[in-house]
Amino acid sequence: MTEKRTYRNILVVIHWVSAVLVFAAFGIGLLALVNQPNTEEKIVPLGLHMALGIAILLLTIVRYLVRLRVYPTWSKVFAVKPAGNRKPLLLDEMSKFVHPLLYIFTLLMSALGLAIAFPADLFAIAFGGSGTSLPEDFYAFEARDWHGILSLGLMVLIGQHVVAALFHQFIKGENFLGRMWFVKGKDE
Ligand code: HEM
Repeated sequence: MTEKRTYRNILVVIHWVSAVLVFAAFGIGLLALVNQPNTEEKIVPLGLHMALGIAILLLTIVRYLVRLRVYPTWSKVFAVKPAGNRKPLLLDEMSKFVHPLLYIFTLLMSALGLAIAFPADLFAIAFGGSGTSLPEDFYAFEARDWHGILSLGLMVLIGQHVVAALFHQFIKGENFLGRMWFVKGKDE
């Protein structure tokens, strides 16, 4: 097994682990946090959401650094190469922008989450057992509005990403998902 191939396996693992964690963070955010009163019962889902968000942040940074190491130039990090030599599709043209934006929005979402958590002392409340109550309203922190607004943007980006992958996989009949799996001798 070459060094490069090991990195590719790492990228596959990081991609799918990140996907699961992002869906879980969205799920908890939308189902258990937003529109729920800031009572004691909210501390556990909030702590879980924060832990997921921080794990996503770290994975995104590691993923970007690994990609830079495997594909050292900036343009190659975000290169989109559909199979074959066909006329570029709008979906693929969009993906050129969506790929970097997925990194940017994910990083910003985590950064904004931290920008709520630090001033609201959420680490002490959720992980330190400080016994302090949650702030009455997270919207008192400016970052809360942006965390919600950007979550909509991230949802749209993820939607395009999923539709593009499914389109290539099932409509065009190209093994697109195989590129993001543990296949021997694959090339991107
Ligand atoms: C990519 C990572 C993240 C995603 C996808 C995410 C997603 C979400 C979503 C969808 C909501 C509900 C927003 C709304 O509909 O208005 C939310 C709320 C929230 N998130 Fe995140 N989040 C992430 C990272 C973080 C991090 C790292 C923290 C803190 C360390 C955090 C703290 C919060 C807080 C405090 C709320 C507000 C809960 C409330 O209003 O009751 N998030 N998040």
